[in-house]
Amino acid sequence: MRSRFLIPLALLLTILDATHGIKVPFQIRTGNHAATRLARRSTIPVANNGNAQYIGNMTLGGVQARVLLDTGSSDLWASFQNAQPTGTDLGKAVSLAYAVGKAAGNVHATTAELGGFKVDNQAFLLVSDTSTFSTDIHVQGYDGLLGLGPNKGSVIRKKLDGNTGDTLLTHIFQQNQSDSYITFLLDRKSDPGDAFTGQLTIGEVAKGFENITSMPKLDVDTVNRLLSSDQHWQALTDKDMGIIGPDGNPIQVKSIVPSAPDGQFVAVFDSGFTFSQVPRDVSDAIYGRVRGAVYDTKDELWTVPCGQYLNISVQFGGRAYPIHPLDTVDDNFGKTDSQGNRVCIGAFQPITSAFSLLGHYDMILGMSFLRNAYTLLDFGSWANGQSGDHPFIQLASVTNAAQARQDFINVRLGGTDTTNDPKWALLPPDQMQHSPVSEEEKKKKYQELVLSRWPYILTGCLVAVLGIVGFCVWRCCRRKGAKKAGKSKKLNQLLSTEPASTTYLPLQGQGGATHKGDHSPGLSPGGQYHAHAQSQYSLDSQYPPGPQYPPDSRYSGQHGAHAEYYNAGQHPSEQWHSDAGYLPPQHPSGHPHPSYGNAQ
Ligand SMILES: *[C@@H]1O[C@H](CO)[C@@H](O)[C@H](O)[C@H]1NC(C)=O
Ligand SMILES: *[C@@H]1O[C@H](CO)[C@@H](O)[C@H](O)[C@H]1NC(C)=O
Ligand SMILES: *[C@@H]1O[C@H](CO)[C@@H](O)[C@H](O)[C@H]1NC(C)=O
Ligand SMILES: *[C@@H]1O[C@H](CO)[C@@H](O)[C@H](O)[C@H]1NC(C)=O
Repeated sequence: MRSRFLIPLALLLTILDATHGIKVPFQIRTGNHAATRLARRSTIPVANNGNAQYIGNMTLGGVQARVLLDTGSSDLWASFQNAQPTGTDLGKAVSLAYAVGKAAGNVHATTAELGGFKVDNQAFLLVSDTSTFSTDIHVQGYDGLLGLGPNKGSVIRKKLDGNTGDTLLTHIFQQNQSDSYITFLLDRKSDPGDAFTGQLTIGEVAKGFENITSMPKLDVDTVNRLLSSDQHWQALTDKDMGIIGPDGNPIQVKSIVPSAPDGQFVAVFDSGFTFSQVPRDVSDAIYGRVRGAVYDTKDELWTVPCGQYLNISVQFGGRAYPIHPLDTVDDNFGKTDSQGNRVCIGAFQPITSAFSLLGHYDMILGMSFLRNAYTLLDFGSWANGQSGDHPFIQLASVTNAAQARQDFINVRLGGTDTTNDPKWALLPPDQMQHSPVSEEEKKKKYQELVLSRWPYILTGCLVAVLGIVGFCVWRCCRRKGAKKAGKSKKLNQLLSTEPASTTYLPLQGQGGATHKGDHSPGLSPGGQYHAHAQSQYSLDSQYPPGPQYPPDSRYSGQHGAHAEYYNAGQHPSEQWHSDAGYLPPQHPSGHPHPSYGNAQ
């Protein structure tokens, strides 16, 4: 029985390895099970679902789970349809809210396996009910999500005592401190020039890409953050040369991050976003001069003719990272204009989620960027908790601009180079179209303005109230003084029966209340704090505040945003409303992705 089971399994895995074209050391051949456990296999094949989702396999409690790989969050969750994983229920309920549904359940601990790594007592969220998701995630091709962000960003970890809730990567790195980095390579569908398949490695560099270790180290920690839970994989673009536009000139836009050095952008690297999110002026500079470009106000993105060749690049550490024109002008989602004609999407979409308290970043570089650079994320001090080197990022370009141009001509222009045709010429700069700022964005910006200044507003109010109270007391005393002893008894009585009211006076006044002694909760110091927290929630996301989102956490917004991409599509109405990554609305014909196609 046992060998019968093992053989097909081994065969299956061999076939898989072969189809992925990556040499993976695969040693499950003999009956020696101890050896099986020790075999190092740190390269994990990554499946590409319609250029919109990147998925890896792992096991939890002996059951396989297909997980989305997300560098923008730090939690591990999975939902199982049939066999349930073995493990222990830790009795802590966690709910992670996403724009497309809620991943809710109890935290469990079990043995987790990823690549050749095996971790006992790994905490993860066992999602029991996926009915709040707008589509069946299993049909979509995944069962959960693996957050590859810093340990400190984990919501599960915050819920548990001590280190019980540490992330899977933290546990893996603790097994071998010297190797605390991951790398990933994301392939591109429908690109004849794409020479590799997707892979994730842990503590090891992918074969053929060894020289990534000589690339500039981009410090993740340079820009100060308000809170450690806000930490992302992020880096600064080159000064005044952050993004080179299609006309060959750098796109000059000011950063919204107060502590960012002049002329540089804070860019977050987030594999959870299908489309990159860039400042609106940057998006306009890329697409606003394309003839026939139309800004879609509903989906908040530019649509452009699919034959438009655009050559842009992003610069880090003094190096240019060219973006493949097939990524800049995206044709993966079967988008049509109002007449039903096929149009492509500007995959560098205006960001609307960055207007957070004191602005932490300017742009989010999602899959449309990450396909162009083999990426190494070194956890440095994040791996062991405190001491050690700063975490850093290294990027090795995998897009050759000249080769990519030829690919584009082959795929979009039928093999004939018509890129010099006048219809593809960019409009002069003064004829550039500008996308309108959405109402939602205006509101967010306004809330942001108020929120970021609330300490001053509060101080101002307090000063005003103290002034008014002081004036009243002064007038009162003057009157009392004039009427003399006759009324002094009444005053004493008043003061002795209402001692507390004076304490609350300033805050009552601040809230506009005039009734002494009316301690409505909203006016107490506690109420003041809550009111602030509430508005911060509504600013960051549409989700009601829950225990998993402390007022200081910006992950609420992030989570909502992340969810956008991975519900690859059947409910455009839901996904398209958000400012986050755009989701494929439906399976584009001609792209053979069974799970994607079936899901329609
Ligand atoms: C994950 O496992 C499933 C089932 O064994 C397989 O079909 C799929 O190709 C695997 N995906 C990757 C990326 O290895
Ligand atoms: C730990 O890292 C070192 C240095 O990279 C490596 O030589 C060793 O094989 C690793 N050990 C394990 C158990 O992976
Ligand atoms: C890195 O290696 C690739 C492939 O061998 C090569 O094309 C590229 O020039 C190398 N880059 C650097 C900076 O050495
Ligand atoms: C793309 O733009 C860059 C920067 O302007 C330029 O150096 C490069 O030659 C261009 N590549 C192609 C293939 O046009």
